[in-house]
Amino acid sequence: MVSGKGRRLLVTGGAGFIGANFVHHVLRTRPNDHVVVFDKLTYAGNLANLADVSDDPRYAFVHADICDAGAVERVLSAHGIDTVVNFAAETHVDRSIDDPEAFIRTDVNGTYTLLEAARAKGLRYHQVSTDEVYGHVAEGASRETDPVAPRSPYAASKASGDLLVHAYHVTYGLHTTISRGSNNVGPYQYPEKAVPLFSTNALEGLPLPVYGDGRQERDYQWVGDHCEAIDLIVDRGPAGEAYNVGTGTSIQNLTMVDIVLETLDRPRSLVRHVTDRPGHDRRYAIDTAKLQALGWRSRHTPEQAVAMAAAWYRDNEAWWRPIKSGEFRAYYDRMYGGRAVLPAGG
Ligand code: NAD
Ligand code: DAU
Repeated sequence: MVSGKGRRLLVTGGAGFIGANFVHHVLRTRPNDHVVVFDKLTYAGNLANLADVSDDPRYAFVHADICDAGAVERVLSAHGIDTVVNFAAETHVDRSIDDPEAFIRTDVNGTYTLLEAARAKGLRYHQVSTDEVYGHVAEGASRETDPVAPRSPYAASKASGDLLVHAYHVTYGLHTTISRGSNNVGPYQYPEKAVPLFSTNALEGLPLPVYGDGRQERDYQWVGDHCEAIDLIVDRGPAGEAYNVGTGTSIQNLTMVDIVLETLDRPRSLVRHVTDRPGHDRRYAIDTAKLQALGWRSRHTPEQAVAMAAAWYRDNEAWWRPIKSGEFRAYYDRMYGGRAVLPAGG
């Protein structure tokens, strides 16, 4: 365990949603740890997410791309990094359907670049992955031993990353771990994702575009619970292992929508059923027994997590208003402008 003397972590993608929450978690709970955030600052990266740790002497920021092998090598050497935690990725399924190229570049080639650098220096490597690698699960719950069966370009790029990570453990003996998280919700999530999109649209009095009948199921988990799990796995997960991370309960999107509207005291008349996402995975569900055996428990149900997230957007307009008036506007028009509105009920 590296934590006794304090870890020196490279957190790639640390200016994004989960990465920033992870940085806050580590700096708050691990006084001996040092954190270097390494981020390309794509549309999803936002230094405002890290503003309140920017003066911490245990924190540093490097603006660079995980596909740039030279930049990766330099940061590892300059900061004496012992552990890489890779959050950096293209992450939105709808964007991957629109244009998959950036997903292959960052989620596959970028993962490869980081693995090579970790191999050269014999570092620990943690890959932040997703339950989407298992694909649609008609019944029951995915276990870590199940084969990956991704169905969107995003999920395929993440599954490819997972396969490379495992290969580097088996072939080169690299100390790797993988976490496969379900849908996170909470502070700093870019408002392209359903919960922040629906929350901010509701607050603006705009329609909530529900894909198809809205009866798809997701395991919405509080981002802080996910960050605790990643920290535990990085610290104690045996090399070569993968762990599912979630509440273990999935709810329908329509239930999520009702919780958002109820929390924000907005009417159900804002709901619009619109043309479904192509290849939309209807249900994700994961078995988290393996992580529980390592000592982790989810602290919030999906219902609590969604309500807490909606309340955060209500209370933090200064964070999301500038985002929704920038690059986001063109994205929203492209993604939703041509979608047909379906009869009530989808
Ligand atoms: P996000 O889209 O909010 O942030 C991604 C971050 O990565 C941004 O800061 C961006 O600037 C950075 N980035 C992108 N390409 C980069 C590159 N080439 N080099 C360096 N930095 C780059 O993502 P998120 O929702 O916080 O997800 C983080 C990780 O967790 C991803 O790997 C994702 O697949 C995984 N994950 C997400 C969820 C979820 O519900 N959001 C669930 C499970 C797993
Ligand atoms: O399961 C983990 C994954 O969760 C992460 O790996 C991804 O990075 C993250 O984007 C998320 O993927 P989803 O596609 O499940 O999340 P999203 O928030 O885009 O959508 C959640 C559900 O809501 C899904 O069933 C699609 C639906 N939806 C989404 C949007 C954006 C709508 O009905 N309308 C929308 O406008």
